[in-house]
Amino acid sequence: MTSIALIGPGAVGGTVAAWLAQNPDLSVAVCARTPFDSLEIETPGGAISATPKVFTDPRQASPVDWVLIATKTYDTASAESWLDALVGPGTRLAVLRNGVEHLEPFLDRLPAERIVPAVVDIPAERSAPGRITQRRDGSIRVPDDAAGRDFVALFAHTPIAVSTTPDFKTEAWKKLALNCAGAVNALVLKPGGVAHDEPVAEVMRTLVRECVAVGQAEGADLADDLPDTVIANYRAAPADSINSLHADRMAGRPMELDARNGVIVRRGAQHGIATPANTMVVALINAAAG
Ligand SMILES: NC(=O)c1ccc[n+]([C@@H]2O[C@H](COP(=O)([O-])OP(=O)(O)OC[C@H]3O[C@@H](n4cnc5c(N)ncnc54)[C@H](OP(=O)(O)O)[C@@H]3O)[C@@H](O)[C@H]2O)c1
Repeated sequence: MTSIALIGPGAVGGTVAAWLAQNPDLSVAVCARTPFDSLEIETPGGAISATPKVFTDPRQASPVDWVLIATKTYDTASAESWLDALVGPGTRLAVLRNGVEHLEPFLDRLPAERIVPAVVDIPAERSAPGRITQRRDGSIRVPDDAAGRDFVALFAHTPIAVSTTPDFKTEAWKKLALNCAGAVNALVLKPGGVAHDEPVAEVMRTLVRECVAVGQAEGADLADDLPDTVIANYRAAPADSINSLHADRMAGRPMELDARNGVIVRRGAQHGIATPANTMVVALINAAAG
């Protein structure tokens, strides 16, 4: 039996853990900060329920075949003690989160070939611990290597479209291009519909243009018209949709600002590419939230 431990059973992690637990050949545990009795997920195809083992203390855990980490990027350090307990000599680690720096926080612990970075597109919201609404079946994309292919196999029984891509870097930067524009919503505290305001859309395009320039310098295959595509996507989405950076700021939580915009500034500096718009939104959101 394949053993899996998922760290961070929130909207994405709880959904993924519940789906994996539907397969009796997988032994699924969750490592939680806030405990719950069961996972109850409203999925597009109906409700599913799961009762994985719930650990709240790393001393309850031992090495597993797979660790999946689905905490927010700002909760990486707090998950270290889980990794101490769960990672053994054969363990592989899948990193389910936004951004383009999936591997970096873990390379001192595991070689790159045992880490699976994942671009997740599963819109989901948590209403209470263990209570989640999954809006679409969604998808997860991972690199086309041995570990990536084994990760895909874990999900064969689920409706989530989990697949490999030969160009993971481009996948991750494309998602970043979409996400970096969302800083505008977090700054002005207005939902997605604000992208219909043309001067605001132009600010969003400027953020994405910088992302495209830096991503291309990193080797991602990004189209020059991606900024227009991003704005078209924002305009096609429900006008009241609230991205997670915006939601985190409204709730007074930490934000994934460094993973979504700060990284463009940091990587841009390494390539000698100016990123004044992303530099400005990072500074302003930090100042407004501080
Ligand atoms: N939600 C979406 O629709 C969506 C879609 C695509 C990508 N993403 C990305 O997926 C990642 C996860 O997002 P999310 O929306 O699932 O976040 P979330 O709902 O806030 O879930 C994060 C979970 O991590 C838990 N956690 C934090 N520190 C922990 C620790 N030290 N040990 C154990 N658990 C810990 C939190 O515990 P508590 O229960 O105590 O809060 C929470 O359950 C992010 O990078 C996000 O950007 C999200």
